[in-house]
Amino acid sequence: MPYNPDMNILIIGNGGREHAFAWKIRQSPLCTNLYVAPGNAGTSLIAENVNVGVEDFEKIKVLCLQKKIALVVVGPEVPLVAGFRDFFENDPSINKIPIVGPGKEGAQLEGSKDFSKQFMLRHNVPTAKARTFHSHETKEALQYLQTCTPPIVLKADGLAAGKGVIISPSIAEAKQEITEMLEQKKFGDASAKVLVEEFLDGIELSVFVLTDGENYVILPEAKDYKRIGDGDTGPNTGGMGAVSPVIFADPSFMKKVEDRVIKPTVEGLKKEGISYRGFIFVGLMNVKGEPYVIEYNARMGDPETEVVLPRMENDLVELLDAAAKGELKGHKISIRNEFAVTVVLASGGYPDAFEKGKVITGFLPEGQSTLFHSGTKNQDDKVVTNGGRVMTATGMGNTLSKAMEKAYQLASSIQWDGIYYRKDIGQDLLKLESTNQG
Ligand code: AMP
Ligand code: GLY
Repeated sequence: MPYNPDMNILIIGNGGREHAFAWKIRQSPLCTNLYVAPGNAGTSLIAENVNVGVEDFEKIKVLCLQKKIALVVVGPEVPLVAGFRDFFENDPSINKIPIVGPGKEGAQLEGSKDFSKQFMLRHNVPTAKARTFHSHETKEALQYLQTCTPPIVLKADGLAAGKGVIISPSIAEAKQEITEMLEQKKFGDASAKVLVEEFLDGIELSVFVLTDGENYVILPEAKDYKRIGDGDTGPNTGGMGAVSPVIFADPSFMKKVEDRVIKPTVEGLKKEGISYRGFIFVGLMNVKGEPYVIEYNARMGDPETEVVLPRMENDLVELLDAAAKGELKGHKISIRNEFAVTVVLASGGYPDAFEKGKVITGFLPEGQSTLFHSGTKNQDDKVVTNGGRVMTATGMGNTLSKAMEKAYQLASSIQWDGIYYRKDIGQDLLKLESTNQG
C-alpha cells in the first residue's frame, strides 16, 4: 500500500473483539492515531476512547471529520444492520472514508435469518432445511411442526443478541415456543418471522473471511464455547471461550468449506449486486466430515477474535485498508503455527442478572498482555466491571495444552467479587486430539 504519513483509525464498539482489534492495529507501523468509540478501560490503555455510541452516526461523522479518520473498522452487527456504511456513502463529506463492514443489504446475512437461508438456497450453499412462518401463520406453523422430528430448531428472523435460537426436545414444546415467538413477540419484532429448521448433529466451528467483494482471504478458524457451564451445560451466552486452530478443520475439510461455502457466498453477493467489504463469519456444523452453514454474521466473533488475531502474522492495517478499498487481490494470510486459547471472565450471574461496578485487580495496567477487556470501565483511579462478559484471557503455546495453561494462568491472576469462568475451555479438543493420535 502507498505510504500514508497520517493514518488515523477509528474502531466502533466496546467489547473484547474491539480491544483485540486495537491491540493488533497498534502493532502496525501504518497506524498513526487510534480511536475507539466508545471503547472500554482496556482500549483506553492503547488508544483514545471517545464517548460516542455505536449507533450515533451523526456524532461518529463529526468525530471522523475532526480527527481526520482514514479508516473505520465496525466491530458489532447492530450499527451495520442499521446502515452504518449507507449513512457514510450517502454523505459527500465522509463518503471517501474507507470502511470495514458491509452495507445494510449485505448485513442482512446476519440481520435476517430468512434472508440468509434464502441466499444459501439460491447459491447452493449447504445448510439445514427450513421453513419460514410469519406472525399471521401460527396455525400453519403448528401444523407443520406436527410433521417434524425432534429436536426442532426455531430461529427468530431478526437480531436477538444471540438469544433468538431455541432447540426444542419435543413437538409439544416447539409448539409452545413458536406460539410465544410469533404471537406474544417473545423476541419483539425479531420474532415476527420464525424459521423452523432441521437439527444438524455434529461439531461446530467458525470460519472467518475478509472480503472486498471480489477477492477474499480466509483467517484462522476457531471454536466457540457458547454455554455458560462446564461440559456445555446451562443457558447460551455470547461465548465463554474460544480455541484456534480447530483440530478437525484439516486441509480436506477446509477445502470443502472454501469450495462449497466461501466461494459461492462471495460470488453470490456479487451476482446479487451486493457490494460487500468486510468480514463474513461463517458458523458451520461439521456433520460427519461435511460442512453445513448454521449462520452467517456480518462481523468478527467475540471471543473468537481474541484467538484469531493473535495467530495472524500479517500487518492487520494493511489487510483492513485493502479490504475497505477493494484492493485485497494478492494479499495472503500468514498464520503463526501456534495454538491460541481464550477464557472469558464473566460477572457472577451472567447470562441472567448480574451486578456491575466491582473493582478489578491483578492485571498489568500497561496493557501489553493478551488480556482483553470487554465489560470494563475506568472509575476514579480504578477499573470496574461494567458488563456480563468482563474480560478474555488469551494464552498462546506450541501445543493446545500449553496454550490452555497460559490462558488459565492469566485468568487466575485476575480478581473481583463474583468472577466466574469456565474451567474446561479446550478440553474437548484435547480429547479429540488424543483420540486421533491414539
Ligand atoms: P445461531 O444464532 O444461528 O448461531 O444459533 C445458535 C446456536 O444454535 C448455534 O451455535 C448452534 O449451536 C445451534 N444451532 C443453530 N442451528 C442449528 C441447527 N440447524 N442444528 C443444530 N444446532 C443448531
Ligand atoms: N461468539 C459468537 C459470536 O460472536 O456471535
